Amino acid sequence: MQKIHAAITAVGGYVPDYVLTNAELETMMDTNDEWITSRTGIKERRILKGEGKGSSDLAVGAVLNLLEKRGLAPTDIELVICATTTPDMQFPATANVICDKVGMVNAWGYDINAACSGFIYALTIGSQFIETGRHKKVLVIGVDKMSSIMNYEDRATSIIFGDGAGCVLLEPNDEGNGLIDSILKTDGRGRVYLHQKAGGSVKPATIETVMNKEHYVYQEGQAVFKFAVKNMADAAAEILERNNLTADDVAWLVPHQANKRIITATAERMNLPAEKVMVNIERFGNTTNGTLPLCLWEWESKLHKGDNIILAAFGGGFTWGSTYIKWAYDTK
Ligand code: UT7
Repeated sequence: MQKIHAAITAVGGYVPDYVLTNAELETMMDTNDEWITSRTGIKERRILKGEGKGSSDLAVGAVLNLLEKRGLAPTDIELVICATTTPDMQFPATANVICDKVGMVNAWGYDINAACSGFIYALTIGSQFIETGRHKKVLVIGVDKMSSIMNYEDRATSIIFGDGAGCVLLEPNDEGNGLIDSILKTDGRGRVYLHQKAGGSVKPATIETVMNKEHYVYQEGQAVFKFAVKNMADAAAEILERNNLTADDVAWLVPHQANKRIITATAERMNLPAEKVMVNIERFGNTTNGTLPLCLWEWESKLHKGDNIILAAFGGGFTWGSTYIKWAYDTK
């Protein structure tokens, strides 16, 4: 009997309307379009505006988009896994909030926090509920409202991040398509280079933590860059090797969109030409957990049943990894 794989059967996405351009950043801090473009590849990013709006609102947009495309009711979903670094609140889980807002009353859900690698962590975890037969419809969401933890006086960090959400539906597949393999890694020593200093149990919020701007993203960009280039490329190369794939076998690389230079290095390591690499960083920047599903959302119509697709990510933790997917459908 053919093994049951967890296949992506639908993709949804959502980005907020407000476009924060490099030109506008020039009015907020000492930076310029030339520096940002040449160092990162980013031209603009989307920002969620409006009082009382959080990551769940971005995710709701993506989930409604997916349900409509797939012709499903909210009540059809059995499990929701939400990968996010900017949850609506410390608790309850943003997955719970999304279920409530969308009306997914038959689902249970929880959040995954693995920074920029969260989507591939969640995808791998969600797949196991399908492979074991426990569930038939699992929704995996990657979402972040990075603007909520961004210090727009920190020109080296704030210029790369943006807000957005994407999601995929996982269903059983007995044709050999779906998630075939994944490599997931963690090295907690990397936490010193990329973190949020206050607001957790070690350093709860006080007037001082707010005054010291300790609730924003702290990033030592160069150090993170070095680890990202090496580890994301290593993980992508390793998954090719252990599945006996060559660059010719790969239809698409879906890389985390943190910096165009990291994406290029990963593709070169895999010997992949630029035409096989999904890149939308110039329009969305780094949406953290949103980058990979937003790429799948934008490229969905170009994907074909049986395509070999490699996802790769690197982020805070450090966390990193890659997944190998055999695409399961052609878009009608
Ligand atoms: O997704 C999660 C994981 N995160 C990543 O993968 C991010 C990895 N890191 C990076 O992508 C890059 O390190 C950044 C894009 C964040 C920063 O680029 P960089 O080339 O590493 O710049 P840097 O911080 O080393 O700064 C180089 C110079 C400095 O000037 P001096 O000291 O050489 O005179 C900075 O002050 O560029 C200056 N600089 C800027 N200049 C204009 C830093 N940011 C800016 C800016 N505009 N926005």
